[in-house]
Amino acid sequence: MDTDLQSLKETALAEIRQVSSEIELDNVRVKYLGRSGAISKLSENMRNVAKEERPKLGKLLNEIRVSVTDAVEQRSRELQGQRDIDALATVDETLPGTPVRVGALHPLTQLQDRAIQVLRRLGFALADGPDVETEWHCFDALNTPANHPARNESDTFYLPSGKLLRTHTSTVQIRTMVVTEPPVRVIGPGAAYRRDEIDATHLSQFNQLEGLYVDRGVSVADLKGTLEYFVRELLGREVESRMRPHFFPFTEPSFEMDIRLAGVNDGKWMELLGCGIVHPAVFEQVNQKRGDAAYDPEVWTGFAFGMGLDRLAMALFGLTDIRLLIENDQRFLAQFAR
Ligand code: DAH
Repeated sequence: MDTDLQSLKETALAEIRQVSSEIELDNVRVKYLGRSGAISKLSENMRNVAKEERPKLGKLLNEIRVSVTDAVEQRSRELQGQRDIDALATVDETLPGTPVRVGALHPLTQLQDRAIQVLRRLGFALADGPDVETEWHCFDALNTPANHPARNESDTFYLPSGKLLRTHTSTVQIRTMVVTEPPVRVIGPGAAYRRDEIDATHLSQFNQLEGLYVDRGVSVADLKGTLEYFVRELLGREVESRMRPHFFPFTEPSFEMDIRLAGVNDGKWMELLGCGIVHPAVFEQVNQKRGDAAYDPEVWTGFAFGMGLDRLAMALFGLTDIRLLIENDQRFLAQFAR
């Protein structure tokens, strides 16, 4: 009996070694380990074996079952490994891969992110406000009287509720001061809207970046130093900048800042932003809304600025049509993927 068992084991192991597919292996497994397989049959036959022989034989049978099972598993792993190798052999790894189309940030977003980064380094925090605004936040609080042309029906989108689509991000100055005591140093990037006829240089929705800095003793020198640094960091050391006197109702004095950079806007001066020293009347409006005197114009002064991002993007990227920025044409956008 012992030798029979030994040779059964040898035969089983030999057969397992010889199979060349997983189907063949499974057949061999069933042949020996299946419910009516050879080893199971022998186990059943134990009944007919003399009592004193049983433990020894049972042990032997069990050892055989274990080694045959191990051998099946081992061979199964080998076959699987071989299958992987065969599959790889059909791949030519010298062929170029299938390119993955990677998404990228919109060029305007890239520009806006860079501007935000520079200003954050200067200690400005991000602030926000709604696109649908009250007339008060957009105009009255910003010292813009009822008869100002910007408030005209032909220039501004009014909603039936009496609210409007903000015509500039300067509303964020007001939103911030109403809920925050000075000193404040914030930037507010976002959309602004005007009833402009859409053409190659105008859209009815565009993008601005607002800035506000209120502290004790803030001067035009602070404004100029901050903006000159900002422009240099954003556009490079070669950029030239200049400030011209201008008028905005919410700043006094007010300026416009122009930049000039080789290869941009044909090397001509271009307007970049409006800015100035916050008008005391703006602080008074904010105080009235807050119901306190937190922004006492005798104690606090500040500067503000607002820049348009779309025109700058056009100049920097050499675009002749502003509509490219909103059409989402992949052929255009893909050029800005990095
Ligand atoms: N809000 C102005 C505009 O849309 C830009 C501007 C000018 C913003 C002067 C300011 C500022 O904060 O101080 O044309």
